[in-house]
Amino acid sequence: MTTSIFFLLFTVFELFSSTIITAKHPPSQRTIPPTSLGLHQEKLTHLHFYFHDVISGPRPTAVNVAQAPMTDKSPTKFGAVVMADEPLTLGPEPESKLVGKAQGMYASASQNDFGLMMVMNFEFLEGKYNGSTMSLLGRNAAISAVREMPIVGGSGLFRFSRGYALAKTYSFNVTTLNAIVEYNVYVFHY
Ligand SMILES: *[C@@H]1O[C@H](CO)[C@@H](O)[C@H](O)[C@H]1NC(C)=O
Ligand SMILES: *[C@@H]1O[C@H](CO)[C@@H](O)[C@H](O)[C@H]1NC(C)=O
Repeated sequence: MTTSIFFLLFTVFELFSSTIITAKHPPSQRTIPPTSLGLHQEKLTHLHFYFHDVISGPRPTAVNVAQAPMTDKSPTKFGAVVMADEPLTLGPEPESKLVGKAQGMYASASQNDFGLMMVMNFEFLEGKYNGSTMSLLGRNAAISAVREMPIVGGSGLFRFSRGYALAKTYSFNVTTLNAIVEYNVYVFHY
């Protein structure tokens, strides 16, 4: 009898102390089936749109926010940081249908050749993708004919997305420095 009470008390103490010990550890985790989140068949989607980088004029979509003291002396403008909120359209013309925005930053991250670090969220505004986003993070060798950059994630219909974007300059005005870039994006998502 005494032994069993002692055992019971010991067990209660054990439970209590294990709760305290668990609290010091990471949150609980368990394996769940993807279908419990409504994730069924993974699919591959191709998106095609045009990105409008407007540097000059009355309504620029990309603005310089920071640079280093040596940036102006650098042939690659190393250290320049640009914040962008740029329209994504269906066709190449600026007045073409707006399908989303590219919001984020790009910065000159290379001293010897022209290489931008791109940190961009694509926010889609049309049809079933309205409200869904996709995140691009990568190196943009802006002088190259086609630049490949990774898509590292997304939200909404693009949850769990991963893939790549191929960017190709459609037009570049050497006077205004404004550019229109064609994007082909390939992503796996659910
Ligand atoms: C996209 O969603 C927003 C917010 O729900 C809504 O106001 C807007 O009208 C939608 N746009 C289209 C084209 O459906
Ligand atoms: C470049 O932009 C300037 C100023 O808007 C314009 O006059 C010129 O025609 C443009 N050049 C090209 C090739 O589109």
